[in-house]
Amino acid sequence: MGRFSDFHQRSIQDRDAFWAEQAQQIEWHKAPQEICDYSNPPFAKWFNGGETNLCHNAIDRHLKDRGDQAALIFVSTETDQERTYTYKQLHAEVQRMAASLLSLGVQKGDRVLIYMPMIAEASFAMLACARIGAIHSVVFGGFASGSLASRIEDASPKVILSADAGSRGGKVVEYKPLLDEAIRLSSHKPNSVLLVDRGLAKMAITEGRDVYWSSLREKHMHDVVPCEWVDATHPSYTLYTSGTTGKPKGVQRDTGGYTVALASSIPNIFCGKPGETFFCTSDIGWVVGHSYIIYGPLIGGMSTILYEGLPTRPDGGIWWSLVEKYKVTVMFSAPTAIRVLKKQDPALLSKYDLSSLKALFLAGEPLDEPTAKWISEGLGKPIIDNYWQTETGWPILTVCNGIEKTLSKFGSPGKAVYGYDVKLLDDQTGEELTQPHQKGVVAIEGPLPPGCLQTVWGDDDRFVKTYWTTVPGKMVYSTFDWGIKDEDGYFFILGRTDDVINVAGHRLGTREIEESISGHPAVAEVAVVGVADNLKGQVAMAFAVLKDGALLNDPQALLKLEGEIMKVVDNSLGAVARPARVRFVSVLPKTRSGKLLRRAIQAVCEGRDPGDLTTMDDPSALLQIADLVKASNK
Ligand code: PRX
Repeated sequence: MGRFSDFHQRSIQDRDAFWAEQAQQIEWHKAPQEICDYSNPPFAKWFNGGETNLCHNAIDRHLKDRGDQAALIFVSTETDQERTYTYKQLHAEVQRMAASLLSLGVQKGDRVLIYMPMIAEASFAMLACARIGAIHSVVFGGFASGSLASRIEDASPKVILSADAGSRGGKVVEYKPLLDEAIRLSSHKPNSVLLVDRGLAKMAITEGRDVYWSSLREKHMHDVVPCEWVDATHPSYTLYTSGTTGKPKGVQRDTGGYTVALASSIPNIFCGKPGETFFCTSDIGWVVGHSYIIYGPLIGGMSTILYEGLPTRPDGGIWWSLVEKYKVTVMFSAPTAIRVLKKQDPALLSKYDLSSLKALFLAGEPLDEPTAKWISEGLGKPIIDNYWQTETGWPILTVCNGIEKTLSKFGSPGKAVYGYDVKLLDDQTGEELTQPHQKGVVAIEGPLPPGCLQTVWGDDDRFVKTYWTTVPGKMVYSTFDWGIKDEDGYFFILGRTDDVINVAGHRLGTREIEESISGHPAVAEVAVVGVADNLKGQVAMAFAVLKDGALLNDPQALLKLEGEIMKVVDNSLGAVARPARVRFVSVLPKTRSGKLLRRAIQAVCEGRDPGDLTTMDDPSALLQIADLVKASNK
């Protein structure tokens, strides 16, 4: 057995001793008294009794040795800005932000919602919350007022941070009107809204509620705000994600476990070293951005790049030019981004000096072999797939080259990472599948390792009911992904078992999109499915039944309705959730008991056999969909 397997085995069989060692990589104000309290499964209390602070570990602890080293490198190809903050400067900015939040009445345990573009201030806000023990909830800037409103409602933030606008491909995308509308829609109202004015768009100001960051920053220029020592189990943040039901879940993360998990992942998984540069191209609104733009690299004493812009602007070489300029050693992106780059001039891959780069990590969606080969040959660097979820906060499956150089296999994200006792379960019986190549549900035996979700915000019951099943003597967490494992322990992920789809690495609930489309007055019923797409991995496809069936014979009216429905989705959820097409049918395929046959619709759209249809109520329903698909393929 190699070091990788030893490491993994020890993490499961000698769990507490293993994690006690990993916990030494971070600074504690008070050492934990117990490594893992799992007396009330599936709730795990990691590093119980310990006290620490996420911001202290990300910034303050580095001031002595690397105060003048770059901590945050903000690059915007949208506004042509490039600014480096050293650890000392980041420390000052975060204290100004922390003092501003305190002045607005934010206290330990209060929620602060962050709805911001990819700008440095967004990271100051996250770190400032962590500093004072407030719980941040970042909402992806691409979401619109409906999505935002449901998150405001659930998180009930005391303060919301936002900005006048973001920018995408040179086009200004206003945030403030969407935020105002979301606050209007929500029954919870924040006390204050703290605004960054980038000078991109005019903002309507609500007196007594809205305040400018520039004026508070000025006021608190020299404030000293010490880190608030919090219990290891104190929630650091919530991050909303989609599941089977329409209502997004607030994934709640702790402080101590998350800090330890990230600290250990930087050298062991990403092979990152203090003083090096990490470039993660995700968005701070997603979990990858939380863990590997902000917290992970900073905890690891690295410099981190926060990039606002497209991968193709000013040209498809922009990311590689940053690798050269900032001597990036670790890069982290998503397969979709690489598929976008694949359409650009391949010469751009060899135009820059990429000698600093050790590896490119990809995650968030299946990595197809042609894309992996293209980028690996183009860069001449190892490409490392890793599989995880918003819920887990850090990789479940990958190869840990920092522990032992391990071969990657095309199509597989790798093996179970230390801390994760990964199993494949029979979806009917719940029994563990032990033979190679058997297809089952990817599951993790409890307790989940440090860094994973503690619970669903405000809803312990939902946490237990959604994710956990009891198999004799133990509780297991379901990832809701199908998978198989080969004889060497490599897993292959085969797609979701639930109604979640993955569009360009963005996780979306089809039920949420259906609910949004149902908001259009002409729509009686709708089914949304994810359909394979060469560029985005999957796209959403909607099939709607209209209240007025006669419209089915009026192609002009249908075209107009399709546009209107897309607008409804844009306005409520955001363009990320917009279906690629909305098609109209007279009836949807359902079972006799009225259950929508989404899998069958999906299969027909992808040209696959829809399987057993004996329970289908009206077989003509699927034929209508098949005809529409055939017609559009012509
Ligand atoms: O279906 C899996 C897919 O993305 C889901 C999690 O998405 P999200 O919560 O946004 O977290 C992304 C964190 C990287 C998973 O349930 N997924 C994620 N990574 C991979 C993947 N599918 C295949 N291969 C991957 N590497």
